[in-house]
Amino acid sequence: MMYKELIIKDLKDMQKFAFEVGKHVFPGFLLCLEGDLGAGKTTFTKSFGKSMGIDDNINSPTFTILKVYEGDLDLYHMDVYRLNGIGSDYDLEEYIYSEGVCVVEWYKNIINSLPDEKLVFEIEIIDKDKRLIKIEGVGIYEEIVKKISN
Ligand SMILES: Nc1ncnc2c1ncn2[C@@H]1O[C@H](COP(=O)(O)OP(=O)(O)OP(=O)(O)O)[C@@H](O)[C@H]1O
Ligand SMILES: [Mg+2]
Repeated sequence: MMYKELIIKDLKDMQKFAFEVGKHVFPGFLLCLEGDLGAGKTTFTKSFGKSMGIDDNINSPTFTILKVYEGDLDLYHMDVYRLNGIGSDYDLEEYIYSEGVCVVEWYKNIINSLPDEKLVFEIEIIDKDKRLIKIEGVGIYEEIVKKISN
């Protein structure tokens, strides 16, 4: 496991950071996001997607749980705030274990269905604009944790 903490000073800094992380994607990439309402999980994902070359405007999937954006690598943006485990109604695992790139907001709600090998960002609100990001990578993601910075 590789761990680091980064301070993000404002929205622009977050967008820059997300763009940087988006350069490291590969087929099957899994990024898990945690953090209070308004921490910036969706904001991060917007710039992350742009960096992946996704032209569509990414917005919050809260009411749909999953949104699919097609690109060189597809982006599967999930917000599982309303879930408590993956129920039989959802085919989310199919996406999680696919060749696309997965970003999961509130991933702890489905932690039992996620592989150990993943990249995890826990975003803490310091003040209106400032954030602390706790970054954890397991397995193949350890190298990425070493490389990314703000
Ligand atoms: N440094 C920052 N990083 C990210 N967002 C910031 C930052 N500073 C201010 N913001 C603002 O905070 C808000 C973050 O909202 P966002 O929808 O991204 O949060 P979220 O974590 O996805 O919340 P939810 O749990 O409701 O999905 C946005 O309005 C954004 O402009
Ligand atoms: Mg969100």
